[in-house]
Amino acid sequence: MDRSEFSDHVALNRTAWDSWADEYVAAGRRAWGGDQPQWGIYGTPEAEVGLIDPFDGGDVIELGCGTAYVSAWLARRGGQPVGIDNSEAQLATAASFQKEFDLRFPLIHGDAERLPFADESFDFAISEYGAAIWCDPYRWLPEAARVLRPGGRLAFLGNSVLMTLCVLDDNEPANDQLQRPQFGMHRYESSDVPGIDFHVEFHISHGDRIRLLRTCGFEVENLIELQPPIDADETRYPFVNLDWARQWPIEEAWIVRKTG
Ligand SMILES: C[S@@+](CC[C@H](N)C(=O)[O-])C[C@H]1O[C@@H](n2cnc3c(N)ncnc32)[C@H](O)[C@@H]1O
Repeated sequence: MDRSEFSDHVALNRTAWDSWADEYVAAGRRAWGGDQPQWGIYGTPEAEVGLIDPFDGGDVIELGCGTAYVSAWLARRGGQPVGIDNSEAQLATAASFQKEFDLRFPLIHGDAERLPFADESFDFAISEYGAAIWCDPYRWLPEAARVLRPGGRLAFLGNSVLMTLCVLDDNEPANDQLQRPQFGMHRYESSDVPGIDFHVEFHISHGDRIRLLRTCGFEVENLIELQPPIDADETRYPFVNLDWARQWPIEEAWIVRKTG
């Protein structure tokens, strides 16, 4: 395929996620059935992360909800979630879990960079590896700010800046060498990694992130660098191992509040 066909990251990522959806059913079911939220690659318990500490109910939007287990957790904590996702296949899995676990909320097929909601519609927005890494931050963060009510919070979690700089092009476990520059961080296309569909992720530096958040009208309340729990096992993700993740943050979570 000609590289010029890869300019529309939303369409490209939809194709990728439609093809990966089946691989996420088992983990989605486990998470829907879990009584305590766990976050990220190593399933760090909410008690150690505090990503939804500030959540106290209300209207919730999950941006890139995938199988929508985060929305399910928040519904059980008194929220009224809406999940939006770019992949119909992922939403089909989410809908099947709604039946299986008898817990229903709206699931919308759409793009978190162009939200089909009025201004100030939600009290809380969240993204675990959804819009947080698959959408352009210069598009999705202003949208998240627009649909939040004043005082509303956005919590999002994805790969850390350090992980993004260290991850190897061939998807082998990261080592202690930086692989790419920090200056200019933004759009990352998957290269020719065997077995992985072409896709586009977005990662920006902390300085750029803070400036962008402030421009959108957010104040930063917390930046949490995740550590695997004591009893963590290796995961199926090949690009990192526990030895690395115990020394450096593999993931980071931001909690920000819309001012005004
Ligand atoms: C790793 S899943 C994360 C969701 C959830 N935490 C889970 O594990 O099921 C990433 C999701 O982001 C969605 N996504 C990617 N680009 C998107 C966009 N532009 N708008 C909305 N969702 C998007 C994908 O379709 C996918 O379902």
